Amino acid sequence: MKLLPSLLLLSLAFTTLSSYAEDGQALHQSECTECHGRMTGGDGHVIYSRDERIVKNISELKARVTHCANGANTGWGESQISAVTDYLNQQFYHY
Ligand code: HEC
Repeated sequence: MKLLPSLLLLSLAFTTLSSYAEDGQALHQSECTECHGRMTGGDGHVIYSRDERIVKNISELKARVTHCANGANTGWGESQISAVTDYLNQQFYHY
């Protein structure tokens, strides 16, 4: 009867994994789009795909997310930073 608890754990792990990217999107939406939108006018997402973008690789992306998250006083920890970094990388940067 050891099988049932491990199955439960496994399905929990999968639920967490599949909501990961979505979580990053929601976090980004609530904390990040407004200021970038004000800077760029309209859709703040252009900041991630403009030609002269400042982020050049995945570690710079994470550093920038950390920097902006701190600047915006989000209080985000490592898991939120990672989720948003993954989301931005999947949607815009593709490193
Ligand atoms: C109070 C304003 C403000 C908020 C809030 C903000 N940012 Fe930024 N963000 C900036 C500024 C300013 C830049 C730099 C633009 C430049 O140098 O041209 C920037 C640039 C970036 C870049 C680099 C874009 C590039 O050129 O490649 C990323 C990534 C980024 N922000 C992520 C985030 C994330 C994630 C959040 C939410 C936690 C966030 N930002 C919230 C102001 C903000």
